[in-house]
Amino acid sequence: MASRRQIAILPGDGIGPEVTDATLTVLDTLCAQRALPLQWQVLPWPSTEWHRQHGAMMPDDALQQLHSFDALLLGALGDPGPASDSARYCLPDAVSLAPLLTLRKQFDLWSCERPARWQPGATCYLSDPRARDVDMLVIRENSEGEYVNQGGRLRAGQPDEVATQLEVFTRRATERLLRHAFVRARQRRSRRQQEGRVRTFSSAAGETHDARVCLITKRNAQPFWGELYSEVFAAIASEFPDIGTHHELVDAACMKFVQCPWQFDVVVASNLHGDILTDLAAVLCGGPGIAPSCNINPDRRDLPPLFEPTHGSAPDIAGRDIADPRATLLSAAMLLDWLGEDDTQFSEAAHQLRAAVGEDLARHADQVRSTRRIAHDIRDALRATPHPAVPHTA
Ligand code: IPM
Ligand code: MN
Repeated sequence: MASRRQIAILPGDGIGPEVTDATLTVLDTLCAQRALPLQWQVLPWPSTEWHRQHGAMMPDDALQQLHSFDALLLGALGDPGPASDSARYCLPDAVSLAPLLTLRKQFDLWSCERPARWQPGATCYLSDPRARDVDMLVIRENSEGEYVNQGGRLRAGQPDEVATQLEVFTRRATERLLRHAFVRARQRRSRRQQEGRVRTFSSAAGETHDARVCLITKRNAQPFWGELYSEVFAAIASEFPDIGTHHELVDAACMKFVQCPWQFDVVVASNLHGDILTDLAAVLCGGPGIAPSCNINPDRRDLPPLFEPTHGSAPDIAGRDIADPRATLLSAAMLLDWLGEDDTQFSEAAHQLRAAVGEDLARHADQVRSTRRIAHDIRDALRATPHPAVPHTA
């Protein structure tokens, strides 16, 4: 008997509960239709509401509890609230967002992956028609770098105050990250080959490649980690002679993301650079409402990966049934992909879900619909997808 996969749903704050709710209604349909051995449990934490009731964002044994799940799906966290609204229970970002950073850190989810592929129906903010060919994967270092949260404020509030914020880059974390970027570039190329698609990337030196990795640094101003990244990148690139490489300084990369985003394939960046670039990449593909993301440890299938939309909790639109649930749905598809590495029925489900979301996007491009309506339409799209019924073998 195949064991059921257990997922923890963490709705969180702001629009989080609405987008996860919508996602669960769709997953319900998908699981029933395919008799998918998937089970979920919706947890009331981490959340600002849990903090209001218990004085902490999550229980003391939260990590132990979450460890027993196969994967985690998070809506969004944080609700700093308007300073003027004293009736509303609000928390500083440092408190409400801490669980997200804790989960990434404690489960050693060192690779944050944010695919950015433009799809028909999505808004295209760029006028060049080639902007519709954007198809990149930004891999963000997720365990150290600018996010180590070390430093402090000396003489806080005084005119001679000094704030320090340490950045830490280790060779070990750099090697695993950059090697993974090359592995992903190969995987993406094989996927393209299976789909009969070919992409050609040209280097400044006039060479062409059908897959490539772009390294992002700011080594002209931050030479120490810039050199470490560049050195490790060159060494690993020599193990992957079939994959093209290029290097961009993060500021220049921002310009090129706008000028010629179709020239990027896999992009690998530090924690902070990756954070910034993935918002930009999301907008290139229609906006945060449809940008999925995952936090994984590719070497450790025993640790629960965390899937979440790239967007935040958007408290300004919370509770109005207008948030786009498709970024969460596409993150759920990435979750199914992860499970699919052990069991192909999950990859098939991921494929079907992604196709249904894509179809929904193409069909309803210009319509304004509620969160629930979008979920409803996607359920209809799923029901309309013919596929062989899978017998339920409980
Ligand atoms: C993200 C978010 C988080 C980050 C915030 C909420 C701490 O912006 O997941 O991109 O910076 O990592
Ligand atoms: Mn971000």
